Amino acid sequence: MKFFLDTAEVEEIRKAVEVGIIDGVTTNPSLIAKSGRKFAEVVREITKLVNGPISAEVTALDTAGMLKQAAPLIKIHKNITIKVPMTAEGIAACVKLAKQKVQVNVTLVFSANQALLAAKAGATFVSPFMGRLDDIGEEGIALIEEIRAIYDNYQFPTQILAASIRNPLHVKQVALAGADVATMPPEVFWKLFSHHLTDAGIAKFLKDWETAKK
Ligand code: G3P
Repeated sequence: MKFFLDTAEVEEIRKAVEVGIIDGVTTNPSLIAKSGRKFAEVVREITKLVNGPISAEVTALDTAGMLKQAAPLIKIHKNITIKVPMTAEGIAACVKLAKQKVQVNVTLVFSANQALLAAKAGATFVSPFMGRLDDIGEEGIALIEEIRAIYDNYQFPTQILAASIRNPLHVKQVALAGADVATMPPEVFWKLFSHHLTDAGIAKFLKDWETAKK
């Protein structure tokens, strides 16, 4: 499973990338706004840090507008993936971009049928939102499982990019369900490393080493 970082904070990306297991980055308009920086500038900096797909989201609601916004983004770097919303207009934009061999991420996916549409449109990635479904009392993981089954039934190459991941349990659940990618906030990435028995084990080894005859 690939690990993407779901953030527009360049310094956070820089730190996490140093570990050597980050495969890509996803951004969205909310994350860009939170960074307080200019969209193109942030995306350009991320392309210098991560050698993998970097999702940049369009905000137009009509197909022509989406394609117009995508054009300068695609020119920034070959790794730019255009993120379009899961609407009929977004799917039409996806079809056109995919024909031009542009990578597309269809976002805001909350049902298996929406994921089916994204695959038929030639999306590189589909982004089902785990956390937001859990927020309303639905099981986010059930959606990932359904999409996995449908894509496997037809050998759709579209990659399942589990999004809206809020905690380590989500990461484990989507890995078990066979998601191709998990995109997570940096704080969730760092939490994956921790276990209190690991910390206790290191402390004990160091203490014993102090008393060992060297
Ligand atoms: O980038 C899309 C997604 O990961 C957003 O997550 O936590 O705002 O639902 P969240």
